[in-house]
Amino acid sequence: MSDKDALFRTALEYRHNAYAPYSGFAVGAAILGGNGKIYGGCNVENISYPCGTCAEAGAIAAMNADGERLIKAIVVVADGKDLITPCGACLQRILEFSDTNTTVYLANLEGIKKSYKLGQLLPVAFHEESLRS
Ligand code: THU
Repeated sequence: MSDKDALFRTALEYRHNAYAPYSGFAVGAAILGGNGKIYGGCNVENISYPCGTCAEAGAIAAMNADGERLIKAIVVVADGKDLITPCGACLQRILEFSDTNTTVYLANLEGIKKSYKLGQLLPVAFHEESLRS
């Protein structure tokens, strides 16, 4: 199985564990780490709505908890007419652990449909050098 297939399958599997009683919108994510391992996440909502977390944030936390810091690729999967892209906050979270090759795959329940470099989705980001200039 290719890395891309394995990523999609993991994101789909984790999506089943989404806790989304308020939006009814289940999202799964999976990261291919710099170490070759795959980390999954799902959205976890809260009755205090702003406390909810996105699927991407869960996968990023799992990767960091395992000691890995590089996102080689991330896939986000949801069910809908339109593909979903990571929200602005999650693009910034992904950026923190990215390099110039970090790829963002967008998927629906059928599979991965689109591929972007993170820089295409967040071209003018707040980054580390901004603090020092
Ligand atoms: N959501 C994600 O988990 N990832 C995204 O990329 C977009 C939105 C979640 C947040 C919330 O639980 C639900 O989808 C509806 O916005």
